[in-house]
Amino acid sequence: MKAVVLVGGQGTRLRPITFDTPKALVPLRNRPFMGYMLDFLRGGGLDGAVLSLGYLPDPIQDYLANWHDLRGFDVDYAVEEHALGTAGGIKNAEEYLDGDPFVVVNGDVLTGMDLAEAIRIHKASDALATITLTSVEDPTAYGLVEVDHDMVVQRFIEKPAADEVTTNLVNAGVYVLEPEVLGMIPAGREVSIEREIFPELQARGRLMAHVSSSYWRDIGTPRSYLAASHDVLSGAVGTDRTNFEYMDVKEDASCGKNVKLLPPLSVAEGCEISDLATIGGRSALGRNCRIGRGAVVEGSILLDGARVDAGAVIRGSIIGRDARVGRGAIVRGLSVLGAGCVVGEGNVLDQGIRVNPGVVLPPRSLRF
Ligand code: GTP
Repeated sequence: MKAVVLVGGQGTRLRPITFDTPKALVPLRNRPFMGYMLDFLRGGGLDGAVLSLGYLPDPIQDYLANWHDLRGFDVDYAVEEHALGTAGGIKNAEEYLDGDPFVVVNGDVLTGMDLAEAIRIHKASDALATITLTSVEDPTAYGLVEVDHDMVVQRFIEKPAADEVTTNLVNAGVYVLEPEVLGMIPAGREVSIEREIFPELQARGRLMAHVSSSYWRDIGTPRSYLAASHDVLSGAVGTDRTNFEYMDVKEDASCGKNVKLLPPLSVAEGCEISDLATIGGRSALGRNCRIGRGAVVEGSILLDGARVDAGAVIRGSIIGRDARVGRGAIVRGLSVLGAGCVVGEGNVLDQGIRVNPGVVLPPRSLRF
């Protein structure tokens, strides 16, 4: 059985990181997200995937071309010239499917769910499609799915107001579809599976749901991406626990004197950490990051080549590729810096501020 992995979206909610890195390749514990996705599909017993690509397809194909761990797992690519939406992206992959039932996955879902069980449950029913559901604490940012006692889907409620919440079960972005569903998707135009195809299947009574209680999170926003990174660093999901290291510090990373390294932590190749710096728990430093004397990094993601100057503090934030945080600056509260931007000395960034790639903030120009 194959999967169609939807990875063609622009990832607007995760900007500025997704201006230059597709969501499918953002790192978790210094490994591109796509690696976890392929492990999940293989772990579910699938033998291949079609990647449904649109936005920034080349880096995704390059990553997989250099991945030596496919072990007989077939990967095909269906690239859209213009955005076809979540159902259009599946239709565009049709030539690579072999007329059997198939799995569809939103390419930004990190989950430990039992995919093989979802497939078994689908096959035991007469549904044309089975949606997996997961329960979330605050469902207002998601699409709610109401089901009856036989798990037949009754109703969808998109991003409900707090007083419209009737269930906390939301669409987990993992589906099993019969090939007939492909015939319901018009070709060549943008079509949404959630808004157009599922409601039609529901109206015919042929849409089932399966609830998974396993770990689930999408990495679509800075908050959820950072939370997923914390979870992977803590070994909560996505990693083989047999040889799991809470201190994953590459040997050639250099550490000065009196550096505090607090687990869980991942430090990639070529990093240089100066004297008296503290790299706090649940942080991931990409390749060739440089941390200055006495700087503090806690609960954050630093992408490759990021630089934190002496005395600067980074907490619960995401620092883009080759970005630089100047002396004594503070970046906290889910701030996100785009690639190559420079935060001058003494600035304070907070409250989820996002700085676009290449922007230069002069010294002491921002304070929260
Ligand atoms: P936002 O712009 O932040 O909403 O992110 P997104 O573009 O990823 O959209 P969303 O999270 O709604 O999409 C869910 C999944 O479908 C993601 O894995 C997307 O990459 C994928 N997706 C969204 N739109 C398209 C599309 O037009 N074509 C393809 N092939 N995939 C898509």
